[in-house]
Amino acid sequence: MAYDDLQDFLAALEARGELRRIKAEVDPELEITEIADRVMRAGGPALLFERVRGSRWPLVINAMGSEARMALAFGAESLDAKAAEIEGHIAWLWKQLRGFSLLSAVPEALPRLPAALSLLPKRVARPICREVIAEDEGFDSLPVLRCWPGDGGRFLTLPVVCTRDPDTGAQNMGMYRMQVYDDRTAGMHWHLHKDGAHFFQKYRERGEMMPVAVALGSDPAVTYASTAPLPEGLWEAAFAGFLRGKPARVAKATLSDIEVPADAEFVLEGRVDPAESRLEGPFGDHTGYYSLPDQYPVFHLERITRRKSPVYPATIVGRPPKEDCWMAKATERLFLPLLKQLCPEIADLRMPIEGVFHNCVVVSIRKRYPGQARKVMNFLWGMGQMMYAKLIVVVDAEVDLRDLSEVAWRAFNNVDARRDLVVSDGPLDALDHSSPLPRYGARLGVDATRKGPDEGHLRGWPEALAMDGRIVELVSRRWAEYGL
Ligand SMILES: Cc1cc2nc3c(=O)[nH]c(=O)nc-3n(C[C@H](O)[C@H](O)[C@H](O)COP(=O)(O)O)c2cc1C
Repeated sequence: MAYDDLQDFLAALEARGELRRIKAEVDPELEITEIADRVMRAGGPALLFERVRGSRWPLVINAMGSEARMALAFGAESLDAKAAEIEGHIAWLWKQLRGFSLLSAVPEALPRLPAALSLLPKRVARPICREVIAEDEGFDSLPVLRCWPGDGGRFLTLPVVCTRDPDTGAQNMGMYRMQVYDDRTAGMHWHLHKDGAHFFQKYRERGEMMPVAVALGSDPAVTYASTAPLPEGLWEAAFAGFLRGKPARVAKATLSDIEVPADAEFVLEGRVDPAESRLEGPFGDHTGYYSLPDQYPVFHLERITRRKSPVYPATIVGRPPKEDCWMAKATERLFLPLLKQLCPEIADLRMPIEGVFHNCVVVSIRKRYPGQARKVMNFLWGMGQMMYAKLIVVVDAEVDLRDLSEVAWRAFNNVDARRDLVVSDGPLDALDHSSPLPRYGARLGVDATRKGPDEGHLRGWPEALAMDGRIVELVSRRWAEYGL
């Protein structure tokens, strides 16, 4: 089932007991963070703060803060079920590429038609995000959080930033936090590698002002899609439609030709001046550390449009687990079918939450030839935002990656430092504080697979311990007799 908008999703969460309303007045300065942090660490529900000091609008946080709620956001039973659906589509596409036959392609394509059609966003003439054109309202009308004590100020933490490539017209929705400087200006924290920053660079080269529209609060598939590592040129609105099984609804902004989620709670329209930058941060970040302040472009707010009774969406990030871990989990599961298709030796891949998205990737492979673990590391470092992976651990296919203790046991015991460690210089996430230079440094690959003579290991590789199956069965049968 697809949701009409954020409020429809919240109603569904409430009906399942997955949302709690807080009626006590709370402060957006730090207090909400402390409450939400405790709830997130306990695996708790979405929180709807009905009275936030200094603003008319209620604030929702942690709406996607569990694997179950993340799956619900796509109307799916589980993330694995959604991933299986994607795997089915990809496998079918590959089958057509291998040997196209009109006779089988047409009947097999028919059941896939709704999924294909859901990729096409639906244009809406009178969107609810424009029920009110609030010329006199600015950032100060919003319940913007100050998340952590050392933060440089207040930040929009869940904005869907909509932009357009001035050369190709391609559209993009990316989630980049925004630091509020005053009622009409905010920092635009798109990292150098991201699509918004690339488009901005193009506007700068043209010497033109860049129109930007920021959607706050939309159908959760759109919000998630804006965080997903899609290749540049693919529009997140199309991907969101595919994820929810129904076209995403978009509408033209009022001051530019950018298309925004039609059902957004708020749309902030404005422009970014390519000639201007300002210090942004520090900000208590995904890594659990404050990311360092740096120069970023500035967004000038020109107009807010909104629903009559909007809900303001927010999140906090910090030392895991936080809500963002579940968005990362969705990315891990939903993008795995594609990775497997392009690199078929991959059996499974996991990003432990402590690695905060991509800082640690463990991958299991069906190894057939020498050096294959290194080949897989290089494949991953070459795949979009996987370039940020600071640590990739490769193990054999039989290792259960859901069991981190098993992964650690294999990695701690199977590695010869000179032979099995790969240090690769390359791009790093702008949030990384450990490399000497920003955005560039060393990534580590650990080959913890079994080695044979073809990799110079001449003295045999031992089997891992396992009890004889007959003895296991015998002991199970007699267990009660032992009185244990
Ligand atoms: C809660 C949250 C906040 C984020 N904040 C930022 C940010 O401030 N800057 C940034 O470049 N990426 C940020 N990201 C990551 C991007 O959303 C992600 O890399 C996305 O794929 C970027 O989209 P793009 O490739 O279309 O630019 C954030 C992700 C989440 C889940």
